[in-house]
Amino acid sequence: SVVILDFGSQYTHLIARRIRELHAYSVVLPGPALLEQVRAHAPGAVVLSGGPSSVFDPAAMRPDEGVFELGVPVLGICYGMQYLAQRFGGRVERGGRAEYGKAWLTRFEGPLFEGMSGEVQVWMSHADAVTELPPGWRAVAATEENPVAAIQDGTGRFFGVQFHPEVAHTPKGMTILENFLRVAGVRRDWTPDHALDAALEEVRSRAAGERVLLAVSGGVDSSTLALLLARAGVDHAAVFVDHGLLRLGEREEVERALSSAGVNLVTVDARERFLAALAGVSDPEAKRKIIGREFIEVFKEQAARLGPFRFLAQGTLYPDVIESAGGTGAANIKSHHNVGGLPAELGFELLEPFRYLFKDEVRELGLLLGLPDAVRLRHPFPGPGLAIRILGPVDEEKLDLLRRADDLFISALKDHGLYDEVWQALAVLTPVKSVGVTGDERRYGYVLALRAVTSVDGMTADWARLPHDFLDEVARKIPQRIPEIGRVVYDLTSKPPGTIEWE
Ligand code: XMP
Repeated sequence: SVVILDFGSQYTHLIARRIRELHAYSVVLPGPALLEQVRAHAPGAVVLSGGPSSVFDPAAMRPDEGVFELGVPVLGICYGMQYLAQRFGGRVERGGRAEYGKAWLTRFEGPLFEGMSGEVQVWMSHADAVTELPPGWRAVAATEENPVAAIQDGTGRFFGVQFHPEVAHTPKGMTILENFLRVAGVRRDWTPDHALDAALEEVRSRAAGERVLLAVSGGVDSSTLALLLARAGVDHAAVFVDHGLLRLGEREEVERALSSAGVNLVTVDARERFLAALAGVSDPEAKRKIIGREFIEVFKEQAARLGPFRFLAQGTLYPDVIESAGGTGAANIKSHHNVGGLPAELGFELLEPFRYLFKDEVRELGLLLGLPDAVRLRHPFPGPGLAIRILGPVDEEKLDLLRRADDLFISALKDHGLYDEVWQALAVLTPVKSVGVTGDERRYGYVLALRAVTSVDGMTADWARLPHDFLDEVARKIPQRIPEIGRVVYDLTSKPPGTIEWE
């Protein structure tokens, strides 16, 4: 495996993901992790991540010295490179050669850059710079501003890059990481089959002869988890709460996808209960709280009815684990918790077979487990569902309008091959009514907003440049089919300053 020591860079999880994409298994440990912890993962290579600290800061995190005695190659990225330079007797200085954003390598050589030619664009983000190399080391790349953009030692075991090979703005970054893995001789056997076997093995060994409860939301993580439990042959109950805030046909789609694959699915029709609890409530956070509370109540009732269970299975993913490990200053603060996030008070042992996997890897597992693409490749959908896409109080009539409008928009995106081009697309029913004319009549109809965004992780987003002809078609179709909607607008707000959802 490749052990990545996290010194607090917002990109650390990306390093881990890129290395997995190169089919080498990777794990992220806190920067100061002890040698035994590092050794436990049998590393074939170690990566020191970037981070917000400066090597001059006495409180800055440092790796265990033993890491350098392991005999495996080490790649330092940004802060990691500066740390290596200082540790081996070079010099790092503040300021002067700070670089932020795009830069181009003016020269590059050596094993890290093997097979590369032409323009090499890299992404820089640093205030400190290496100004003197440790004895026996050399600079193997430079930019206009910075003669020390990459370094390596005399033995060919230690490497550093000042830029970030893991981000998309370093287009040839994957080649650089791959070169490092090759030099290190790391095994490249991390495939979806391997990940599936590991997950099955974990579930079987921990939950054999025990009963497992899980909550299914209809999203890819919980659906794949349900299929995994069924495939592993463990005794389980998958509870799917229909809170009445789902999209058109969603419940049936989930039921079809899971029941036919041997999942013991228990659908709970709680639509009336949620609607009653939400009646007259317009504050977005109040809506979220009510939905979360009702969900836990319904789930508890089912747990009592169907139980007892020893385990609660959850589709926790690796980025959540990295974040909540905390203390390393990772800047990617998660803003939302799914309503599926259940409190510890329920007293189950947790089964989280995806806690070392990234979303893309779970999608691959879903593919292997036979999850239909309609579920597997679905856009993210918030736990509180359509309730936060109806501004103001939620009622059955508005839900019905929004459900139909959303379906027209999403179906059109699919028909035009645009669905997979955007990160998320949605319709929002506003409480605003505007004037329109149909025939000789003046009428008031709701204003419906369409929103489609591009994004990598939902943390930032840009509005999708959907073709005008496509938008035109949808904007005509919706009021035609749903006369209560009088006007259709398209949201041009990016995130920040906007959020993806309207509430
Ligand atoms: P925002 O609107 O904050 O959304 O830009 C970012 C992503 O999170 C989803 N989202 C939620 N997911 N519970 C969830 O499970 C919520 O309360 C919630 N609010 C927003 C949103 O759909 C987008 O994918």
